[in-house]
Order: sequence, then structure tokens, then C-alpha cells
Amino acid sequence: MNSLSLKDKTMQAVSYLSDRLAAPPRIGLILGTGLGTLGDKIQRATMINYGEIPYFPESTVEFHAGKLISGTLAGQAVLAMQGRFHYYEGYTMQEITLPIRVMHQLGIRTLIISNAAGGIREELSPGTLALINDHINLMGDNPLIGTFDPFLGSRFPDMSEPYSVKLRHLAHKAAEDLGIKLVDSIYAAVSGPSFETPAEIRMLRAFGIDSIGMSVVPEVLVARQLAMDVLGLSAITDQSLPEEMQPISHEQVSRVAKEITPTFNALVEEIIKRI
Ligand code: HPA
Repeated sequence: MNSLSLKDKTMQAVSYLSDRLAAPPRIGLILGTGLGTLGDKIQRATMINYGEIPYFPESTVEFHAGKLISGTLAGQAVLAMQGRFHYYEGYTMQEITLPIRVMHQLGIRTLIISNAAGGIREELSPGTLALINDHINLMGDNPLIGTFDPFLGSRFPDMSEPYSVKLRHLAHKAAEDLGIKLVDSIYAAVSGPSFETPAEIRMLRAFGIDSIGMSVVPEVLVARQLAMDVLGLSAITDQSLPEEMQPISHEQVSRVAKEITPTFNALVEEIIKRI
């Protein structure tokens, strides 16, 4: 990190982007591992590689595209991140969440965040779409730690409704109307990049956790600090049950997420239409 404040970095990225975006975006989208193709459906699209944007880190993970796409999806002005930054890549929590501050500054007040996650509960088998109802932060860090400036939002953000109840109802209704199974989940984020041991899976189960991944929570914490409404969706790509642990690979995670993509895309488009 250099000495520039988070506010300065945000504003430099915003001033770079504001002339280049198709239209002022209303809804922000973060497309996780294997889920990037929704970005290709955006109409009248403008694409900007992360590498061009001041203070955006670069995506270093395979299967993550690494660009911002602005345009129209299901009739709404959206700004999508095709690929995100992860803590395990070695970036700080503040670096990986800078795009959320930029989105907020560009006028976005609703954020749809997606990822690939592992199922821990029986019902969350690979290929299932899960709605995140609540989360547990097991990453051992928090993006809100640091020097405070009111520009950042609240110093002590309330977390009684991290995932908007209204958006969750809307998502369930949309899924029901499309005949898509959408399973409620309590999600936990770990730092990764190693997957979980059998003992960790047993602990996570005992904690009441249904699904596990290496992202989402940092972005949600910043979005809530800024009072944005959040919807979280996980593509369940693998399942770890303590009695029958199977080896997991990043390739499997990406492959199964890609298989869920058509369902994911249809659901998110329907949700956006109804927001
Ligand atoms: N554990 C952690 N992160 C993940 C998993 C998992 O099983 N699947 C996809 N991301």
C-alpha cells in the first residue's frame, strides 16, 4: 500500500471510470469463479480491463476474466465485475474491496454478489444454487480495519441484516416462477487457498455453517458499511461431508460452476428485471 488514502484511491478510480461507462449504473454485479458468462449478456456494453483502472488490483486466478462491464441487463443499467480479487492472492482486504467503494461512489445502491462454494449440509450437493441468508467471517481479517474517514461509511456498521430480506424474498419468488431450486444457506468465508480438512469440516458443521468459500464476506462488509442492499448467491460446486471427504480441485470448482451458469444467468436476469 502506498500512502494515498482509501478515499483518494477510490476517487481516482471513479474519475477514470465516470467518463467511460455506458450509463450511470444502478445495480452492481460480482461474477465469481466460472460464473462470468452473465457479463457477456450485457447489452450496449463497455468493457474496461482491471489493469487500466487506477488502484484496481489485477486478477491473478485462472478462470477469472478480470474486467468491468457496464451496460444494460434485463432492462437495467448494471456494472459487472467479471472476476474478483481474493485475499489469498496476497492483496489486502482494503485492496480487494476497493471496487465496492467505487461502485457506491458511481451511484450503485444494490449489489448482487456471487461465488462458487462448497456444500457442507447434505442438501447442498454440487450443481445446487444457494441463496446466502447470513454469513460467518472466518477469514481472520476485516476490510473495515484501519484509519477512519466518514467517506468510508459507518465506523461500526450494523450487521443485523447483511443480506437484504426484501431481495431474498424477491430472489425466492423469481426462482419459484422459473422453476429453479434455490436453497437457503448460512455461508462462511475462509482465507483459503487450501481447501478444508475433515476436522475443519466437522467444526464448520458444528457451527451451523451450510456452505464455505474464499470470498464474498469482505465485499459484503464494505457494502454494508456503505448501506448498500446486498443479495448473495452461491453456485455449489463440491460437497464435503465429514464421513465421506472427496478430494477437491480448483478445476472441479470451475467446471461445475460453468455447468450451473445457464440456471444462474436465468435467475439473476429475472431478479434484475424485478428490482
Ligand atoms: N471450500 C472452500 N472454498 C470453496 C469450496 C470449498 O469446498 N468450493 C468452492 N470454493
